[in-house]
Amino acid sequence: MPAKPDRPKPRALKTNGPRKGNRAEPDPAAQARVLTLAARRARVHACAPWSNFRVGAALLTQEGRIFTGCNIESASFGLTCCAERVALFKALSEGARRFVAIAIAAPVPGGPTPCGACRQLLAEYAPEAVVWSCDSRRPGRIRQWTIRELLPAAFLRF
Ligand code: THU
Repeated sequence: MPAKPDRPKPRALKTNGPRKGNRAEPDPAAQARVLTLAARRARVHACAPWSNFRVGAALLTQEGRIFTGCNIESASFGLTCCAERVALFKALSEGARRFVAIAIAAPVPGGPTPCGACRQLLAEYAPEAVVWSCDSRRPGRIRQWTIRELLPAAFLRF
């Protein structure tokens, strides 16, 4: 019998902290680390031939699903779509609706902040989500905002 490859089994990414009573309480710091890692991995797929600035995003649903996105650029610059919107559109188009957090990663000091267009869409579709951002070269330092902090007095209905 051929020897089994000597490779450790990939471990499931856990976002739950210590158990309280019968329920596992979410641990925000652990969630931020896991989601940030997913955002950093998503950067690899960025299509950014014009700016060469690769951004990754990862959106966490209340059910614990993670949808990732990366920026997709076009030679017709206005068609470019940010990583955040790609992740959000993927999630919405698959029926996800309740979002807990979004992580963003890019090689910029302190991490990127979402552009105005992404803030608007996040305010509409993920108003309760926390935004975590990190410099992809220094993932240990994660900054945090709420969507309301990033887009106060958002235009939401007419
Ligand atoms: N970009 C994002 O994907 N997310 C952000 O938060 C900021 C900007 C992308 C859009 C474009 O492809 C490149 O970064 C430069 O603006």
